[in-house]
Amino acid sequence: MIASALEFERAARLRRELEAHNHAYYVLDAPTIPDAEYDRLFRELEALERDYPELATPDSPTQRVGGAPMPELAAVRHAVPMLSIRTETDTTNGGVVAFDTRVRNALGLGSADAPVEYLGELKFDGLAISLRYEHGVLVRAATRGDGETGEDVTHNVRTIRQIPLRLSGKPPALLEVRGEIYMRRDDFQRLNARQEQAGEKLFINPRNTAAGAVRQLDPRIAAKRPLSFFAYGLGETGDWALPPTQAALLDAFAAFGLPVCEHRVVAVGVDGLCEFHDRIAALRDSLPYDIDGVVYKVNRFDLQRELGFVTREPRWAVAHKYPAQEEITELLDIEVQVGRTGALTPVARLKPVFVGGVTVTNATLHNEEEILRKGVLIGDQVIVRRAGDVIPEVVGPIVERRKGGERAFVMPTRCPVCASHVEKAEDEVVARCTGGLFCPAQRKQALLHFAGRRAMDIEGLGDKLVDQLVEAGIVKTPADLYRLGVLALANLQRMAEKSAANLLAAIEKSRHTTLARFIFALGIRNVGEATAKDLARYFGALDALMDATPERLVEVPDVGPVVAQSIAGFFGEAHNREVIEQLRAAGVTWEEGAPAAPVAGSASGKVFVLTGTLPTMSRDEAKALIEAHGGKVSGSVSKKTDYVVAGAEAGSKLAKAEELGVAVLDQDGLLRLLEQG
Ligand code: IVH
Repeated sequence: MIASALEFERAARLRRELEAHNHAYYVLDAPTIPDAEYDRLFRELEALERDYPELATPDSPTQRVGGAPMPELAAVRHAVPMLSIRTETDTTNGGVVAFDTRVRNALGLGSADAPVEYLGELKFDGLAISLRYEHGVLVRAATRGDGETGEDVTHNVRTIRQIPLRLSGKPPALLEVRGEIYMRRDDFQRLNARQEQAGEKLFINPRNTAAGAVRQLDPRIAAKRPLSFFAYGLGETGDWALPPTQAALLDAFAAFGLPVCEHRVVAVGVDGLCEFHDRIAALRDSLPYDIDGVVYKVNRFDLQRELGFVTREPRWAVAHKYPAQEEITELLDIEVQVGRTGALTPVARLKPVFVGGVTVTNATLHNEEEILRKGVLIGDQVIVRRAGDVIPEVVGPIVERRKGGERAFVMPTRCPVCASHVEKAEDEVVARCTGGLFCPAQRKQALLHFAGRRAMDIEGLGDKLVDQLVEAGIVKTPADLYRLGVLALANLQRMAEKSAANLLAAIEKSRHTTLARFIFALGIRNVGEATAKDLARYFGALDALMDATPERLVEVPDVGPVVAQSIAGFFGEAHNREVIEQLRAAGVTWEEGAPAAPVAGSASGKVFVLTGTLPTMSRDEAKALIEAHGGKVSGSVSKKTDYVVAGAEAGSKLAKAEELGVAVLDQDGLLRLLEQG
């Protein structure tokens, strides 16, 4: 079948429409139609092209999806060479003055002459590309290569939605547009998240990823890499009557539907350039893509021609760099730091390197898995990144530079601070020191927990005071609290006599407590308030708990193997036992009883939910009473709830109970039930 004029017209119209929507979506970031509508038009065009293959032109949006792989990248000779620009090495404003002076001297301008007008642009950190449009249609895309000869990457560049396959407006018969292909940071992160999920290798940075994608042989792979583009220069232009300035050229590009960066400004003289440089420096970290500097170009093309080139660099342009955000250095060692919660964090010790404006000597590696994921070895040459105020990061190793002496990091089995065992739960990434109360690194945290309201309840022993006590070396373990005197406290800053007396009174008051509170206060990992209560009830005495094997521990209601392991591990450390002995010796006591005989009453093992206001009991009292009878109190109603105890103004929990058919009691009903036990 041969397409009729009607089908020919329709296909042309669909191509125009789809490209306009593409431009609105990918370049202007302002979609004009819903995705579903776009898809419908796209499928219509696809169907037409399938029926009438002669309608499938190279500028059709259907050609973006990526065809068959190329055997190799063909060489392309650039009619106008793709040159690079001089980099001003002085990263301060001195560099601006040097450039302006060179330009003025070359133009023969004296101090009485007006300042030169420049265009300030961003220096994008991507891959330079030359796009050849003939009669407005993209016919070839080539990399820079050595500047004279590049590689034909048209098949991949076609997949970049930001690059128009056909220019809009009134483009010249021949136009080579030059610019940068780059990858946005958010696109890069999403891509890496996908890679990680698929168990694939992670990409190092947006720049290398963009460059790798453009030079792919298989356009279907390139099509999956989210690439972007900015136009900033010219190659061959045929007989096009050029706009008069760089600023006007970029405006013309935008009118052709090409993406042009909004951060461009006509800057007058040194002052204008300095202002631009400083403004962009402040903006740098919030830009959605990486830049490594700014570019200054003499704005007027007639002056550019007059200035010409020295060796292979234009005299009319210069790159003014910002401090690099990525550098290469040696990973000297990986040390392990212990945090306030006992978490062991591997930290990279680096050969000092100036990056992102500061000298970096170490960087966190987060955890063992992260080290494996990044594949870094001790002794590696690594890429270190520091962008803005973000903490420095080891990006990854340069595998090609390995010499053979590098070695893998091994997480220590003992805490580097207190030598306690290190444990790592199976489903966790973080390794932890089990030293708890004993580990100096965890001392403050452990003391705060110990003194907490639900633990020993030492009123007034807060953050700041704990900091001071620990830093002054006055308190090392919780037992030291019970040996404090007014004298020691008087030495602390800002501690008035009255507050010292109050604190001592609060400590004194905490000396006698319940077994459950004491167990909770020890800060055993995975042992919260409820578990502490269960343990107290089950064992009755601390010694029995301390000697319990994991097998015995799992017999306690709600204690699983992980919790049992934490408890056994904690009491397995000699120094934790020592701290407990010290507390006993310092006169700390708690109520002990016989191990709870399984309560046979009707409340035993049952789950209660309290709601509303009871006539004569506070909620805490009711909770204590239920627990004393072997029941449990939970916060929310579910199928596992046995009773809901409802008082005045009971709300949604009561409704839920009725909905699930859970028994509802009032206060009297509760008391009667408990008495039966
Ligand atoms: S103009 C003859 N403008 O930086 C001048 N280049 O060496 C041609 N670049 O390879 C370059 N942003 O890849 C120009 N706004 C910008 C740029 C830019 C990034 C890259 C380009 C070039 C290198 C300069």
